[in-house]
Amino acid sequence: MTGLSRRDALTGAAGLAAAALAGGAAAAPSRAPIPYGSAAQIQTFRADPRYRDALKRLCDVIVPMNDLKWEALRHDRARFDFSGADELVDFALKNGQALRGHALLWGMALPPWAKEMASRAEAERELTRHIETVVDRYKGKIATWDVVNEVIAFDPKPGEPYRDTIWQRLLGPGHVEIAFRTAARVDPQARLVLNDFNFEEAGPGVAARRKIALETVRRLKDKGIPIHGVGMQAHLYAENAIDSDGVRSFVADLGKLGVDVEITELDVIDWKLPADTAARDRTAASLVSTYLEAVVSGGQPKAIVTWGLTDRYSWVHDTFPRKDSAKARPLPLDEDYRPKPMMRVLDQYRRGRS
Ligand code: XIL
Repeated sequence: MTGLSRRDALTGAAGLAAAALAGGAAAAPSRAPIPYGSAAQIQTFRADPRYRDALKRLCDVIVPMNDLKWEALRHDRARFDFSGADELVDFALKNGQALRGHALLWGMALPPWAKEMASRAEAERELTRHIETVVDRYKGKIATWDVVNEVIAFDPKPGEPYRDTIWQRLLGPGHVEIAFRTAARVDPQARLVLNDFNFEEAGPGVAARRKIALETVRRLKDKGIPIHGVGMQAHLYAENAIDSDGVRSFVADLGKLGVDVEITELDVIDWKLPADTAARDRTAASLVSTYLEAVVSGGQPKAIVTWGLTDRYSWVHDTFPRKDSAKARPLPLDEDYRPKPMMRVLDQYRRGRS
């Protein structure tokens, strides 16, 4: 994928993470290739031909980063604006790439009118109409949907599994079921996913989040409501360790319930790392390697998607700025589209091994 020779990939300290994996390849069990993809931002997509080229060259999967969010589609209550999403969907289809749709229900990125909804009936009507219209438009084109995004409470208290959002306030925990039921009714072929962040760190809060994800899957299945996967966003904080055992058993437990996982928004938040860029890139690659090894030891993910491709453009710059104001390096390509050590790690999963 990156056009690197084996020698390049294994040369120097930068190749250490890759070398560790490659070195074990003879003894390691075979692994099927895992499709790789990226989220794509429409403004950048329109402005930068190198960005379009990289998306086309490197990705099996494309995710419109913001253009399927309510804020983009439903700026006017009466009218849907599909312009940005259509452009990215057409691009992916033309290139033979698969699409993930992000996201049908989220407590954030809502237009002002949606935040002012006041009754259960209104919320249910709008949510149902939204999912019917959006899923129907992309039926047969968008194969996988993040049906519900970031619904699990950040640090859950007993009896309060879900986040305090307009949906939770007006519809209660049943909003999750309404969303999955509606999506399944409109496109019975679609793969329907519960997408959320921080399933990977240690500690009781994260363990509680995993438990809520498992319970949600079980509840939907018990009620006969289709759910096919859990999306693990994987915005990895470089200063925090990965709980590999916790990740492995989470993925395995989901497998026992009959759902797969996919990595949906992978990037590395490097705001607390020392400035040296080569060292930051090595740490990021090794963190991604540790994380992906933990995931695959529990089960085969359906896809690995990074939240952007190049350090030139990322939400991490604004959301997690560094104190020294050096530019963040969260993604597999550097600012000039050169592959970083992280790309070599991703490449190994994309290729699989026989
Ligand atoms: C982010 C985008 O990357 C930004 O461009 C936008 O301004 C805000 O949203 N979790 C999610 C994503 O599910 O939708 C968010 O994307 C990042 C965190």
